Amino acid sequence: MHRSHHCAQLTPADLGATVSLLGWVDSIRDHGGILFIDLRDRKGITQVMFDPNVNPALGAQAAHLKPESVIGVVGRVVTRPEGTVNASLPTGGIEVDATELTIHNLSDTPPFPLDDVGGDKVNEDLRLTYRYLDLRRPKMRKNLQVRHKAAKSIRDYFDSQEFIEVETPALFKSTPEGAREYLVPSRIHAGQFYALSQSPQQFKQILMVAGVEKYFQIARCFRDEDLRADRQMEFTQVDVEASFVTREDIYALFEGMLKKLWKDVLGTDIQTPFLRMPFHEAMNRFGVDKPDVRFGLELVDFTELFKTSGFKVFASTATGGGAIKAINAKGLADLTQGELKNLEEIAKSLGAKGLAFIKVEAGEWKSPIVKFFSEAEKAALTAQLGVADGDMIFFAAAPWEKACAILGRIRLEAAALLVKRGKMTIRHDDWKFLWVIDFPLMSHDEAENRYVATHHPFTAPVPEDAAYLDSDPKKVRGQHYDVVLNGMELGGGSIRIHQPALQKKVFEDVLKIPADVVESRFGYMLKAFTYGAPPHGGIAFGLDRMCALLCGTTSIRDVIAFPKTQKGQDLMAQSPTPVTAKQLKELHIAVVMPE
Ligand code: AMO
Ligand code: AMP
Repeated sequence: MHRSHHCAQLTPADLGATVSLLGWVDSIRDHGGILFIDLRDRKGITQVMFDPNVNPALGAQAAHLKPESVIGVVGRVVTRPEGTVNASLPTGGIEVDATELTIHNLSDTPPFPLDDVGGDKVNEDLRLTYRYLDLRRPKMRKNLQVRHKAAKSIRDYFDSQEFIEVETPALFKSTPEGAREYLVPSRIHAGQFYALSQSPQQFKQILMVAGVEKYFQIARCFRDEDLRADRQMEFTQVDVEASFVTREDIYALFEGMLKKLWKDVLGTDIQTPFLRMPFHEAMNRFGVDKPDVRFGLELVDFTELFKTSGFKVFASTATGGGAIKAINAKGLADLTQGELKNLEEIAKSLGAKGLAFIKVEAGEWKSPIVKFFSEAEKAALTAQLGVADGDMIFFAAAPWEKACAILGRIRLEAAALLVKRGKMTIRHDDWKFLWVIDFPLMSHDEAENRYVATHHPFTAPVPEDAAYLDSDPKKVRGQHYDVVLNGMELGGGSIRIHQPALQKKVFEDVLKIPADVVESRFGYMLKAFTYGAPPHGGIAFGLDRMCALLCGTTSIRDVIAFPKTQKGQDLMAQSPTPVTAKQLKELHIAVVMPE
């Protein structure tokens, strides 16, 4: 069971040495009875040779081997025959002439190829079912290593800043105002439930009351959300809280962490301080609160222009308090009917009534709506959108936020179509970090006709806006900030409310949570705040998202060893599963199956 070297170590300097190696059979080549085996361990590959002419018994033993079998080899380091040197491998100048072979485990034939190219083509469900094989692929192995390095870099950074890591419970209590929770029935307390922690938010604030001052944790969080490429039900946050800090302190602290992280993992120097963009500007220019600023195609506002337009759809929206927004997808006039239809569907799924467009070809504006436009309107569009031959203009007429959101999404889709055509390049390693700031503290939930916290209910208002909490909550900005990288929300946080009276007011008067619910859910926190709560604030980063970006992948499943599928299943271990009637009885639970 002893190895003298790992499989990326031997070079011509070791010629003549007797070595022992352990690992997996990566591939087997038979050259007229002589077997060449690429032996792989977590570090790399070494070629091993079995020559039946020299040692018939050993040759016969090796003939049984199949790819992915686990073996131990003892042999002598020799030069590779002329013409077989592989300069692309660190061990490409040598091979091991085997004298002993131990077969620890003979592998069945894997259900898919384990190289990166072959593996990438395989259906993800199959990869997840055989995750232990998928994780043997070089790319996945590298992703796990990057994640380890990232976590270490982050821990070292916070340690150097005198933060301490404190663990907080996964079993917490159910609280309103967050994402949907996972409930855990209590055996001891019939009919009562824990909730799995969505984030350590309340505990980290309590730790500030406890005088910890500088807390961080690489914390597992649980949310019963619809899963997407950047969302898992179980994910990891880099969670931080500090006392006596301002927003500026948090910006500097996190820029420092990210700078070190990018240096440690990629060797890249990122620019700090990051750009800061108010929420309103992000929406206006990019149609989203997590703008990808690696490319232009910005939204342009034409609300004023169309107030008096002959095109009634636009005029009525503009005079009725809505907005008219447009983007110029430069060079996309060649989009197909199918692609256009698809964009319209996307716009409609976001609540658009339609997706007006102008296709500019051979000096002509092809569009169902230009006939309604005056010469002055056309001139204004040409000037402000820089209209030229080959362009494709899209419009949205809707309430401001909706119009922005529709075109924000069309902007991303148009960019993807331009990239596909080779008309635009967007590099994954063009690191464009920014802080999005000045979010409204509250957003109005039309369906429920009440205000909801934009970030969470513990976020402090910007002091000069606090006076509007009663009269016009929409006007109040929160001390909330998000870090965005290349169109992905990496993290978010805020300066918190630390005065119990203000926190109670936000719960009861602004969010309209009944007083008894506030008492039962948050009473302990309000009480803690009456015993010397320091001003404090913090932030949480999605470690999975950060690692995905560092690894250049778009799916966080690629940087999680054992993720769930889009449908919330673990295909390898096969969960979730039914449980026995005895277990349910013990938990005082009855299952009612849907119709
Ligand atoms: P928030 O809810 O914005 O803030 O979460 C912070 C970050 O966590 C990541 N994230 C996720 N990653 C993967 N899968 C998910 N389902 C998922 N949900 C969130 C994102 C996000 O930016 N307690 C506050 C932070 C604070 O105020 O300090 C919080 O949890 O990258
Ligand atoms: P209509 O007059 O309804 O036939 O619409 C003319 C064009 O304007 C069509 O291409 C519609 O898709 C588009 N359109 C209609 N309503 C809107 C809207 N609110 N925003 C953007 N485009 C719209």
